[in-house]
Amino acid sequence: MIIDKLISSNFRNQRISAISSKLTGEYTVATDLVSYSHPDQVFPLHPEQQFFLDEIIESKIAEARVLEIGLGSGVLSIGALRAGAVYVTALEINPRAKNYAGFNILANGLEGKIEIRDGDVSDIWKPVNGDRFDYIISNPPFEPTPQGMTHYLHSAAGIWGLDFVEAILKELDDHLTAAGHGQIVTFAPGNAQEPFMLVDMAQKYLKGETKIKVNPISIKFGEFVDRFVENEQATVEQVEEIKKMAQDNDVSHLYLCVLHYSKGEQTLTVTDTTLAYEAWLNPL
Ligand SMILES: C[S@@+](CC[C@H](N)C(=O)[O-])C[C@H]1O[C@@H](n2cnc3c(N)ncnc32)[C@H](O)[C@@H]1O
Repeated sequence: MIIDKLISSNFRNQRISAISSKLTGEYTVATDLVSYSHPDQVFPLHPEQQFFLDEIIESKIAEARVLEIGLGSGVLSIGALRAGAVYVTALEINPRAKNYAGFNILANGLEGKIEIRDGDVSDIWKPVNGDRFDYIISNPPFEPTPQGMTHYLHSAAGIWGLDFVEAILKELDDHLTAAGHGQIVTFAPGNAQEPFMLVDMAQKYLKGETKIKVNPISIKFGEFVDRFVENEQATVEQVEEIKKMAQDNDVSHLYLCVLHYSKGEQTLTVTDTTLAYEAWLNPL
């Protein structure tokens, strides 16, 4: 395999991960090492990408022209093509990620199938203004982020981790073709029963059919943000402040969800996945 040769000669400080799903089969991508702890880290593979690939809808991805918002290593765009899409337009703001994605696209034999466009920090939809797509995908930055904390470009997403998701949902419908489909994987804060913040946001912005699939294994919000202190990413004060905000807003748990959206009558369902994604905070 060409990728194995390229990797063994050039990629000693990178992480090589294989991923596989029913629709995509197995393939390999290079990302940064987990220990490369700089803001421009190219996001390593986690159970969220597996969850995303497992949720791709075969009939909708077939022959689809896809938009990915937040390309990273390219793992999902490559997966979309392997699952049956014909072309991907992908947005990214991180130059390091664009380089990795370029490499991964070539190594997977998909040159000419993915166009990488510069993302826009203040208006994520600007690079595709007026364009519509058959399948819009994103694994956006979605970690609850204490105020004032420096975080990875791939994860910083405001107090609730939903700033980027909100920007996507606001214009998702406008950028889909009539039979188009949107699919987003995200963390979502909630109470012990459900990820109510994502549910509320979907009700507010999505006027068609929304299905939220929830990984049945949730984690405690407090435990998640405590990791920022352990990893020396945030101060105790910053983390105590976000925990207090969570308490004031009845947020106690964090869920891993995939949101599906298509045009139609406004409906919203929330269901647990049958397959549980264990240890979903940890790299694959
Ligand atoms: C959680 S990572 C996911 C990367 C990849 N899709 C994956 O699944 O591994 C989110 C990505 O969004 C990118 N991003 C952040 N802000 C963006 C923006 N305004 N426009 C486009 N991409 C952005 C980050 O640089 C990062 O690569």
